[in-house]
Amino acid sequence: MTDSITITDNRTGSSLEIPITNGGVAASEWQKLLPGIWFYDPGFVSTAACESAITYLDGEKGILRYRGYPIEELAERSTYLEVAYLLLHGELPTESEYEAWRKEITYHTFIHENVRKRFLEGFHYDAHPMGMFVSAVAALSTFYADAKDIFDPASRHKQIIRLIAKMPTLAAAAHRFSVGMPFVYPDNSLGFTDNFLSMMWKVAEPRFDANPVLARALDILFILHADHEQNCSTTAMRVVGSSHADPYSAAAAACAALYGPRHGGANEAVIRMLTQIGSVDEVPAFVKAVKEGHGRLQGFGHRVYKSYDPRAKIIKRTADQVFTVTGKNPLLDIALKLEEIALSDEYFTSRKLYPNVDFYSGLIYQAMGFPLEMFPVLFAIPRVSGWLAHWQELLDEEAKIARPRQLYIGKEQRSYVAMDQRGR
Ligand code: ACO
Repeated sequence: MTDSITITDNRTGSSLEIPITNGGVAASEWQKLLPGIWFYDPGFVSTAACESAITYLDGEKGILRYRGYPIEELAERSTYLEVAYLLLHGELPTESEYEAWRKEITYHTFIHENVRKRFLEGFHYDAHPMGMFVSAVAALSTFYADAKDIFDPASRHKQIIRLIAKMPTLAAAAHRFSVGMPFVYPDNSLGFTDNFLSMMWKVAEPRFDANPVLARALDILFILHADHEQNCSTTAMRVVGSSHADPYSAAAAACAALYGPRHGGANEAVIRMLTQIGSVDEVPAFVKAVKEGHGRLQGFGHRVYKSYDPRAKIIKRTADQVFTVTGKNPLLDIALKLEEIALSDEYFTSRKLYPNVDFYSGLIYQAMGFPLEMFPVLFAIPRVSGWLAHWQELLDEEAKIARPRQLYIGKEQRSYVAMDQRGR
């Protein structure tokens, strides 16, 4: 048996053998036999858009690895900043590499005063923080003209550092504005996650000391959300990056993709769903309605995972630790009941619908005091390191501009009709 497929054009009888390489067959080979015949694959369900060495995901077995390291080990033993380094550099840092990385990111946390004073404060008083965030990330490109030098290694490195470092500052600024609280400047004596919590919650105290259990829990959530190979937002980053736009503009496109309820907005949707269900007794009726086609079970199902999302398992454990500090989120019992019923119901098991990363993350965020509107923003803070790793990989490979084909199903050619002759 050879690792290849043979395609026969039944119109002509000609055949072509295409090797299977890294689990895929090259569409460029197919084109040799069938020019002008396109793969029809809406949603890219069966299409590999690139080769990548960053994240390995086996959805059937529930495996997730960054650069070969299992997500479980990273969540247990690493930190978000170290994971960001790993994603971008391919290897874990030595002590001195880590120290230099940590220092660089720590000293780029400030944002230009005009971003905050003129740009962010110009939003309507009830602006959604994710909408503010998407726009603020795009606006950064106008503050760093050197960002356009995407093939200059020094410039590229600087933009990567800036983006990772400034995400928490922009996120907290968007939150403080939306609740009418004054902006808190970064405290560079604090670690990445502690500093973010300080910018979020500090009131009048000279220094905000985050609860270490909560800071570590958030750091674990950041690790789990740092990358997930070719998801919707990473694809947006790659598509825009392939046109050689600057990384702030590409990251803003990725943030916009993350805003949607089918992607980064799902944990917000989970909390709204659990709140709507209201009590454990109402769970069976809710599940019945979903099965009858009335809405979806938010936080369930995944395009790639057809077993329990490994991140959801880690998050469930983390939730228990958080609740020892914050008290139990009252929605937890509803979530547990929902999971129990869904996992034993043929409708969900036959479609391989299991809890995904968002099913429990919202419960943690809510217990920690984050408003629902901040959930997608919390997702974007760490995901930027994954987006940047993919952006860098795409530039290093000198990837072609993303430009898919379509199957045209519209009208044939017809002549223009004057307005007074258009009798409809
Ligand atoms: N609740 C109920 N039924 C569902 C759900 C769900 N959450 N998800 C899928 N299904 C059903 C569909 O109705 C469909 O059933 P059918 O075959 O009888 O028509 C079948 O399962 C397959 O569903 P698709 O929509 O084809 O699956 P797809 O891979 O396109 O969608 C998605 C994946 C968008 C994540 C989907 O499962 C969903 O909407 N989940 C809820 C939202 C969510 O939790 N999103 C977060 C994803 S994780 C992340 O982005 C971080």
